Amino acid sequence: MLLNFAAGVALLVSAAAPGLASMCFPCRNPYVRKEWRSLSNREREQYIAAVKCLQTKPGTAPLAAVQSRYDDFIATHQAQTDFVHFVGIFYPFHRLLLAEYEKALWSCGWNRRLGQPYWDWTLDTATEASFLASPVFDTVRGFGSNGAFIPGNLSDIQLPGHMGGPPFDLPDRSGGGCVTDGPFAGMTTRLGPLNISTGTTPRCLRRDFSYHSLRDFAGLDKVQQAMNLPDFGHFELITDTTTFHPGGHWAVGGLYGTMTDTYVSPTDPIFWLHHSNMDRAWWSWQSRDLAKREKEISGPLIFFDYNNDLGPNVTLSTPVWVGLNEDTRVDFEAGQLLHIRKGPFCYNYDHLY
Ligand SMILES: *[C@@H]1O[C@H](CO)[C@@H](O)[C@H](O)[C@H]1NC(C)=O
Ligand SMILES: *[C@@H]1O[C@H](CO)[C@@H](O)[C@H](O)[C@H]1NC(C)=O
Ligand SMILES: *[C@@H]1O[C@H](CO)[C@@H](O)[C@H](O)[C@H]1NC(C)=O
Repeated sequence: MLLNFAAGVALLVSAAAPGLASMCFPCRNPYVRKEWRSLSNREREQYIAAVKCLQTKPGTAPLAAVQSRYDDFIATHQAQTDFVHFVGIFYPFHRLLLAEYEKALWSCGWNRRLGQPYWDWTLDTATEASFLASPVFDTVRGFGSNGAFIPGNLSDIQLPGHMGGPPFDLPDRSGGGCVTDGPFAGMTTRLGPLNISTGTTPRCLRRDFSYHSLRDFAGLDKVQQAMNLPDFGHFELITDTTTFHPGGHWAVGGLYGTMTDTYVSPTDPIFWLHHSNMDRAWWSWQSRDLAKREKEISGPLIFFDYNNDLGPNVTLSTPVWVGLNEDTRVDFEAGQLLHIRKGPFCYNYDHLY
């Protein structure tokens, strides 16, 4: 509520004088985003309960397939997928989406001093056994484990990963079936696969673990390489398309898992931990030269148009929005979303890369 109000005023102010918004709403008391395993047992339980609460509250998006407040967030991501991935606003869009999701979690009992927890992939890349034993996949105070193994079949379009999956085989994929353990066992949504939002039969949450995807694309070496990239264009291109963004999605989603479906991957509650760490990586990179990087954005306006064959780049004034109805929609310009304690944001990470 408060943030909605702030957003509205920020818009009015920014129309007259871009940049003033952050001065009008100084961030005095930032909340903190912590790594999943840094939360206490009680906090982990409280977080999981808040996600489950969102899954029982009524949704607001005007789509028959949206049956819960949680579905609202899947639906806004799904509706905008083609405009917010492999483009310059990939990072600002997901920063805003996470902040809106956090507000919804707070209204469901999550601790207001804590933001969306993150999953630091680099803590789980040592061995396959340590990956499988990650507290993120805990079956009591985590998000549950893998689905049952389904043999790979690239022509079976009934399975969700078909379109969002890696353009190569994942020989170590080990699941594909519905999640049957942990707090989200048996979870369903009607959204998807892909951009289908009309609602057909309920779809289960699927996982298809691939340890090598995490180790090869989301390890400390890839994070450190990213931290040394010279400009936003390279940082966005490399991390969004080839290293830890796909790495985290494929490690959990493999070929057939929900996390691999580019459109409805937020169906998997792990999506939010993965993207919180994406945002943390971006902020870690920004913090290395903040004066410059809190104003830096580039990259294509159009999906995967990295050579600008089809259109221009995004700019500080490119619109970024979240929410599919009037009450929940928030509108900003990309330039208002580049600092985690300015504009609509007021948070910190407990540790940076
Ligand atoms: C793969 O999926 C297609 C489409 O559903 C099906 O026709 C085919 O029999 C499957 N192949 C195998 C080897 O399961
Ligand atoms: C999205 O849906 C439309 C049909 O409604 C289809 O023509 C289009 O190919 C879909 N796009 C993708 C990328 O799946
Ligand atoms: C678009 O952004 C990329 C990445 O920063 C940059 O290399 C390229 O020169 C930009 N293109 C235009 C037309 O400004």
